[in-house]
Amino acid sequence: MIQKPRGTRDFFPDELEARRDSEETMRRAVSRWGYREVATPEFENLELFTLRSGEGIIEEMYAFQDKGGRDIALRPELTAPVLRMYVNEAKVLNKPVRWFYFGDCFRYERPQKGRYRQFWQFGIELIGADTSSADAEVIAVGYDLLRSAGVRFELRVGHLAMMKSLIVDLEVDIQKKVRGCLDKRDYGALHEVLPDTGRADQLTALIESKNLDDAFAITGAIPEEERIRETFAILDAHEVPYIQNFGIARGLDYYTGCVFEAFAENLGAENQIMGGGGYRLAHLFGGEDTPSCGFAIGFDRVMVSRGEESPRRPVTVAVVATPEGRIDSIRVASAFRKSGVRTITDLLGKSLSAQLSQAAKHADYVAVIGKREVEEGMITLRDLSTGEQKQLTIEDAVAGVVGIGVS
Ligand code: HAM
Repeated sequence: MIQKPRGTRDFFPDELEARRDSEETMRRAVSRWGYREVATPEFENLELFTLRSGEGIIEEMYAFQDKGGRDIALRPELTAPVLRMYVNEAKVLNKPVRWFYFGDCFRYERPQKGRYRQFWQFGIELIGADTSSADAEVIAVGYDLLRSAGVRFELRVGHLAMMKSLIVDLEVDIQKKVRGCLDKRDYGALHEVLPDTGRADQLTALIESKNLDDAFAITGAIPEEERIRETFAILDAHEVPYIQNFGIARGLDYYTGCVFEAFAENLGAENQIMGGGGYRLAHLFGGEDTPSCGFAIGFDRVMVSRGEESPRRPVTVAVVATPEGRIDSIRVASAFRKSGVRTITDLLGKSLSAQLSQAAKHADYVAVIGKREVEEGMITLRDLSTGEQKQLTIEDAVAGVVGIGVS
């Protein structure tokens, strides 16, 4: 038997319907903030991802040469593709650009629960606004999306300038290592990377600081202070509950300003459900230097976190018939479908009783068409949840079910 590739999944209808339901909820939520959907190719020129992050990132990607000898990668995320798309069309776009996306990404990782090689991200990019209101809006949208998807989570917000101000004079290599420790939340390792214990202690105190005054007492005045204070004040006005955390370093290399992450309460080790921040990428792709801010939500983790809660599914009608009613049943099924009702019919020539017991497994209503119904030009509509049965014209039966809509 041929197996699916490691780290990928198949989705059966129940699961896929639950995913579509969450996707729709999130689409509606993001639309309320004026963000509009974009889509980019699933594969890009490899360079798009190595330009900022270096060749090292190839290890973590599905990268290959196509038949024309071009270096190609399956997208590991959508920020770089969306910014490439923006740069290609930037001149005709009204700024700021508010875009969202929902798409699959590919990373060559060690698969485990909540970590896959093909996974889906729901994200936004706000391009061309460099203000505290822009930063706060992006964070507030992320909060709103996760809330509306039914996830319980903790949101942590920080700013890279705080940590940078404490390590800016160190060699770039050491700075990278410090960010690595912070990203893994391995604060113990800081003392190994930084022989200067005073500095490691300062960083630890910064990470543990609970309010802005305490944090600025550690860093001293920095040029970004007003921006950071404003962003936090606007988040409060958005009524977004968050926890200050200046230890957030973010794994990807492109962030420059505010950074934030959300952690789901009911997931195990892979509990980071959203990550994002302010960054600059447009100039790397041949455009003007453009401040941007965005995030991506791990959609598969949303689904695990949301659990078994079943989505509202469309009402289903099974049209069953005796041999005399078979042709009429096709017309009846068409009438239901034309009105938008999910309708199934027997394809295997089963007996009426076998059709009825099959219907009981899949449907909410059964429309029975036998000899009598054909003669009288009526159908018998049975509500499977109550057992109630009525003789109706096709029009009345359709109107009754359409009124119900979803179960
Ligand atoms: P990221 O933190 O690499 O950020 O990914 C965002 C989210 O995708 C993570 O928080 C996690 O929930 C989910 N995720 C990542 N890898 C996997 C995986 N292997 N399996 C399942 N879920 C995964 C970005 O990708 C940035 N582009 C976010 C961003 C947008 N920054 C600015 N704009």
